[in-house]
Amino acid sequence: MPDESLGVRSGALVTASDRPTQPVNLLDFEPLARARLSHMAYEYLSGGGGNEVTLGLNRARLDAILLQPRVLAGAGAIDTRIEMFGRELPHPILLAPTAFHKLFHPEGEIATARGSAAAGATLVASTLSTTSIEEIARAASGPLWFQLYVQRDRGFTRELVERAEKAGCQALVITADTPVLGTRDRERRAGMALPPGLEMANLRGLAAAAESGRPFHENIYNPFLAPDLTWKDVAEIRSWTKVPVLLKGILAPEDALLALEHGAAGIIVSNHGGRNLDTAPASIDALPRVAEAVAGRVPVLLDGGIRRGTDVIKALAMGARAVLIGRPYLWGLAVDGANGVRRVVEMLLSELEIAMAFCGAARPSEIDARLLWPGDGR
Ligand code: FNR
Ligand code: LAC
Repeated sequence: MPDESLGVRSGALVTASDRPTQPVNLLDFEPLARARLSHMAYEYLSGGGGNEVTLGLNRARLDAILLQPRVLAGAGAIDTRIEMFGRELPHPILLAPTAFHKLFHPEGEIATARGSAAAGATLVASTLSTTSIEEIARAASGPLWFQLYVQRDRGFTRELVERAEKAGCQALVITADTPVLGTRDRERRAGMALPPGLEMANLRGLAAAAESGRPFHENIYNPFLAPDLTWKDVAEIRSWTKVPVLLKGILAPEDALLALEHGAAGIIVSNHGGRNLDTAPASIDALPRVAEAVAGRVPVLLDGGIRRGTDVIKALAMGARAVLIGRPYLWGLAVDGANGVRRVVEMLLSELEIAMAFCGAARPSEIDARLLWPGDGR
């Protein structure tokens, strides 16, 4: 592992020639983050379920899709703006909900919110944050959504949804794919538990939350996940709030149709970053069939393995309105707080602009399956 003498602590990357340089892409942040994190935090951040087949597929299947460059298309100035839920966003990159940011940087979610806003990204704040949604909202000058892990105590869950809306969250994302945690061997071996001093700040007042510090994987039923969640709950939760409700973790087109029937305003195609059911498909492979079933009625978003601008353009070409990144912005957070989060998003955005220029697409609305090499998703 790189050490201080190699300059890693000052945010530099050691190259083969042994001359420290700054990270120039998202992947460059990973070793720098690793050098700063405890073993437990790094394993929690990086790991996937089972043999990590799905985790690997998220990347491998994106890489395997080829793009068809177009020449002399005169795309000119690239404009990445998109529209979602009646609002204009400067680009189609969101920050996926991830838990426990104070594990990765002492300023935790506050730094994430600042970095996200500086880069014009929408932050989806997790239920399992180490900073309360009210405090995150105060620090967030950019768009903020709230991710809901429905709690067994539905009364508490309702109050949480009301708090998030009151704090200014513009959409609610119900995570539908996590009735239990995946078989995450790496975080179990590393003894994943919240260190003393960190708390699940949104869940103050819940009996189970007082027991933080307990191992994450005591048994298959995590105290902060509701294993009995059903479509009926979705309909009920919708009645608690005025903001659009999205469902996260959809892979089957049948579930996408059920989501529409139950009033979902948007769908996030996701396998939870390969952390839940191992050997589930890569999210990019699930996207076309979900997009086809939804047929433009609501926005479809995608996360899982997005690391390059070319990954973003492929997701958009296959039917996504926008993408979310998870681990990469946590690497940025670990390396350089708010500034690291901002740099990660800005790098990905600039790569997206380069990819658009090569493919002759001046704006996201011009990105469709014609940008894909024949046979690769078209
Ligand atoms: C997550 N993810 C997640 N999802 C969610 O709905 N609520 C949560 O609290 C968390 N927590 C979480 C923690 C960490 C450390 C990771 C890496 C992921 C899943 C996340 O929203 C997203 O689906 C994946 O991270 C996307 O894949 P990539 O970009 O990490 O490959
Ligand atoms: C995770 C859960 C908490 O992926 O969403 O770690």
